[in-house]
Amino acid sequence: MDVKRIALFASGSGSNAQKIIDYFADNKLVEVNCLLSNKPDAFALERARKAGVDTLLFNREQFYHSTFVSDWLQERKIDLIVLAGFLWLVPENIVREFEILNIHPALLPQYGGKNMYGMNVHKAVLDNHEKISGITIHYVNEKYDDGAIIFQATCPVSYDDSPESLAEKIHALEHQYYPKIIEEIILKNH
Ligand code: GAR
Repeated sequence: MDVKRIALFASGSGSNAQKIIDYFADNKLVEVNCLLSNKPDAFALERARKAGVDTLLFNREQFYHSTFVSDWLQERKIDLIVLAGFLWLVPENIVREFEILNIHPALLPQYGGKNMYGMNVHKAVLDNHEKISGITIHYVNEKYDDGAIIFQATCPVSYDDSPESLAEKIHALEHQYYPKIIEEIILKNH
């Protein structure tokens, strides 16, 4: 059986990308093949380079008005794209060609959509005095945070949480579950 290949997309710190790279490091069936980013200074790129994972940086023009990114992924025979803190909408051609997963730091369908990422999400959850937040792992379609939900996990929000303390709880859940769900999906569907 051919090894299954993951392409990670990340725009920021890349703590999820790191957990995913570490999780599959010794896996014989699944490999993290590459990490792509739209941000030259994303720490995620540095994490990938350190782990010996190939990287690709692309700009808006290449992503939305050419097949540069999808050609690169096709050449590498990528089975699954995994968004890990990637903040641009994925263009239709890539949505059509690949299976794509995303993780969102709240309980969709609430607190999703354009501009709902990272700290913006946690601030909105706290502003609404929610008692529970959590994570959502879902398929990606051509709209923000709209694809079918695969998995959710929750955590309590306490009255004295700050956006930063809530982000910490959410990150802990993401790190605990995202690699395992990715493994289940890639082994089941490919
Ligand atoms: C994660 O919390 C992820 O859920 C969120 O960005 C953070 C990235 O953290 N993604 C979104 O908000 C997408 N709408 P990381 O760079 O440390 O993995």
